Amino acid sequence: MDRELINVYDYERSARARVDPSAWDYFMSGAWDEITLRANRTAFDRIRLWPRVLMDASASDRATTVLGTPIAAPILVAPMAYQMLAHPEGELAMARGAGAAGTALVVSTLATTSLEDVAAAAAGPLWFQLYIFKERQVSAALVRRAEVAGYRALVLTVDAPRIGRRERDEHNHFVLPPHLLMRNFVDVGLEHMDVSVAGSGLAAHATARFDDALTWEALEWLRGLTRLPVIVKGILAPEDAALAVEHGAAAVIVSNHGGRQLDGVPATIEALPAVVRAVAGRCDVYLDGGIRRGTDVVKALALGARAVLVGRPALWGLAVAGDEGVLQVLNLLRAELDMAMALCGRPTLASLDAELLQDPATVPAHA
Ligand code: GLV
Repeated sequence: MDRELINVYDYERSARARVDPSAWDYFMSGAWDEITLRANRTAFDRIRLWPRVLMDASASDRATTVLGTPIAAPILVAPMAYQMLAHPEGELAMARGAGAAGTALVVSTLATTSLEDVAAAAAGPLWFQLYIFKERQVSAALVRRAEVAGYRALVLTVDAPRIGRRERDEHNHFVLPPHLLMRNFVDVGLEHMDVSVAGSGLAAHATARFDDALTWEALEWLRGLTRLPVIVKGILAPEDAALAVEHGAAAVIVSNHGGRQLDGVPATIEALPAVVRAVAGRCDVYLDGGIRRGTDVVKALALGARAVLVGRPALWGLAVAGDEGVLQVLNLLRAELDMAMALCGRPTLASLDAELLQDPATVPAHA
């Protein structure tokens, strides 16, 4: 590994120098004042760890399973659109890197590579992220294609009836350059972003195409279409977590879309505990948003997440060194998780519990 690149922030700095400024803004921005974008980080930083000692720190197996699929560590790669803006090999390199790290990748509906080509390149398990289009048959066709191509789950994004207003994209008039297409839509003629609009091309695309009238019926519809497990991404309210379970979700992802949708919502790590209580073990709970350190993973697992997803850090790795960069970022996060667990006196993933975060001064004395 490059000696200069020892944590994800080093990859961020290096990636920034390589990515076109408008694309960089697209990837990095949050909605409106970016309060939630920042909160995803600061909320992690406020949480303290209360380690135990002399707990035998020699174990280093961090493997787990998600929906029955074995992965090397509880750190997956989140869905992100337009990855060829970060690296010429885009989603193909992301899939190779995630697979080499032994983890699962969630491929975006808005990929710049077709879902079949990603599957052909992939070295590990894939899930497919889905936006539901006004023309439902467009989304239904994607579901069928994902099944045929061997994707193991669908990830329904529910926090984006409209695309949040990312003002950097508005200022930049963010659009895909002409050589990049939304390749999943070539067969239906929807692969081009309308570049004639003012403001963000993605926002205009979403307004034109995404179904903003969705209700919980959409989850039933999707489940009726497929034998794949359906994961619901974009849950913050415990009531919605409970509804997702009642409508047959195989898992929920506590997510605020990387701070890119409704600004002012809680950090995901703040929303997690109530979601975990509402789900009450009935399905897996995952979390994304703001994971930058192994200690963040520890905190999320201690609060009841089974695994986390990382978005921007994987993208930084991609921008810096393609599949090798993705692998390096995922490996360094796994190594940080390993180190953090050893120093927490929590030798196994199962031993990461809320006590790790509990200030003893606040625990009532026992008789
Ligand atoms: C795409 O889904 C985005 O949120 O930018």
